[in-house]
Amino acid sequence: MMVLMLTVGVSTTSAQKNHNVSFIPKEVWKDTDGNMINAHGAGLMKYKGTWYMYGEYKVGKTILPSWATWECYRTDVSGVSCYSSKDLLNWKFEGVALKAEPDNPESDLHPSKVIERPKVIYNKKTKKFVMWVHAESADYSKACAGVAVSDSPVGPFKYIESFRPNDGMSRDQTLFVDDDGTAYQFCSSENNQTLHINRLTDDYLRPEGTFVRRFVDMAREAPAVFKFNGKYYMLSSGCTGWDPNRAELAVADNIMGEWTVIGDPCTGPDADKTFYGQSTYVIPVNPKKGLFIACFDMWKKKDLADSRYIWLPLIADKKTGKMEIPWRDNWSLNDFK
Ligand code: DGJ
Repeated sequence: MMVLMLTVGVSTTSAQKNHNVSFIPKEVWKDTDGNMINAHGAGLMKYKGTWYMYGEYKVGKTILPSWATWECYRTDVSGVSCYSSKDLLNWKFEGVALKAEPDNPESDLHPSKVIERPKVIYNKKTKKFVMWVHAESADYSKACAGVAVSDSPVGPFKYIESFRPNDGMSRDQTLFVDDDGTAYQFCSSENNQTLHINRLTDDYLRPEGTFVRRFVDMAREAPAVFKFNGKYYMLSSGCTGWDPNRAELAVADNIMGEWTVIGDPCTGPDADKTFYGQSTYVIPVNPKKGLFIACFDMWKKKDLADSRYIWLPLIADKKTGKMEIPWRDNWSLNDFK
């Protein structure tokens, strides 16, 4: 996610111990208290003029179980963190919005499990904040979506249940709310080979029963969905565990309709490896003008808690529809102007 930091030469008061002035991909990003931002596989939501960011709160050692036959590195579940910001650059830690449940070995939130890719959306009808996560077992065989709900954007979120949407496996996932208020969950399904798009019920708590299979046998992970100029776009990665691969952008006229692959929008050094990152979210900064931020995680598989963030401009050309995510060592939203 984000940021960047940098205290250097910037005013520091006791109220705000750290002030970031630009996005510096791959560096340690600090929150307003000066602590490392801990929000991996993050999703963002804007509510009443404030941005909220939710991510995997990764604490402690990375574990590779003795029985592992593949690189299922994980940290103990510590919950889902929440940060708030007005400028997308300086983030206040709001606490752990969805807490781990160390006393209940059966819970999806027990430290022995895996919770990934939290995404939160606001339901205008119910006035509830709804979080969906990838709820996993340590061996990644559960493949479920977990749902939690809160009256406040900063939590506490109450965990309701986990399930396989429309009986399909659900691993990497994201949520998207369309202009008419209808919400969709995109998830890597069918052993990560095919993506499912599940339409949600009006309260956003369950799949409504309608779903489509897309990107059949194309093994897409890490979906991040956004809308530009009346069309739907999905940025995603290939499926290579914690290791990087090439990003891909696809477009559709209708969200449950046919999707067409456009290609890799990344440009610059290591673009063919997504700059060593993996997509997690695309922030609509000024969608009318075609200004977005593409958010990637740079996973450190043997020390997941020290995984870094790569946020880069995603610039869309209204005339041609062309989209580019150019590499930047150091940049700010002013570069958009
Ligand atoms: C790739 C996914 O995108 C991550 O969220 C995580 O599930 C890893 N695979 C686990 O290997």
